[in-house]
Amino acid sequence: MTERLKLTDAVIKYGDIPIVNGVSLTVNAGEMIFITGANGSGKSTLTKGIAGLLPLSSGTVERTPLMSYVPQYEEADRDFPARVSEIVLTGTQRPYKLFTSRSDRKNAFDAMKALGIDGLADKQIKTLSGGQLRRVFLARAICGKPELLLLDEPCAGLDAQSHEELFAIIRGLLADGCAVVMVTHDISDIDLISEGRSIRISGGRIAGYE
Ligand SMILES: Nc1ncnc2c1ncn2[C@@H]1O[C@H](COP(=O)(O)OP(=O)(O)O)[C@@H](O)[C@H]1O
Ligand SMILES: [Mg+2]
Repeated sequence: MTERLKLTDAVIKYGDIPIVNGVSLTVNAGEMIFITGANGSGKSTLTKGIAGLLPLSSGTVERTPLMSYVPQYEEADRDFPARVSEIVLTGTQRPYKLFTSRSDRKNAFDAMKALGIDGLADKQIKTLSGGQLRRVFLARAICGKPELLLLDEPCAGLDAQSHEELFAIIRGLLADGCAVVMVTHDISDIDLISEGRSIRISGGRIAGYE
């Protein structure tokens, strides 16, 4: 099994307060892990630590560099002046390049098409609905062909059809060997990926494996 993510005894603090308190987790290629838990239990902090956006106070994280991260929607800056196509294209670039290639543009377009937003390519993101903007961030995440995809509550506020489409995309990524880590509030999501595992976070620790 190829490991895509290995987190060992991770501790993440805000100031002196440990928010994630000794979490270990391994996710292999083609595996799906759901992270559940109450509001404030540390799920987003954990995903930011995995993504490399917050430093670990102790412990280690090893992960594939081909990682995409979609933050919780509430953290998005809707007023940022950018077009849909520009946002999606940034997802193709590892490391960042000044110019995009023909294949980058094709990957971005294919991702927009998969999420039904190809008709919005030239729109400013501030003109989109919440559901459309979520699709933009998802398209950005998948167009770089990630080996590890981190999704922080991607289903919140999605309508039934978008929800279905997202899970179809996730199944395709898993079949291609991508590892997927998804924070979700909705326990019924877990049943949608039969081979998925789930962990419950409470007070920054793993409180259960379901
Ligand atoms: N930037 C921050 N500075 C200080 N405390 C924070 C910050 N972000 C989150 N917290 C605190 O960390 C705890 C866990 O938050 P979070 O990881 O967002 O939880 P969840 O995603 O499970 O709802 C909460 O008590 C929250 O108030
Ligand atoms: Mg959160």
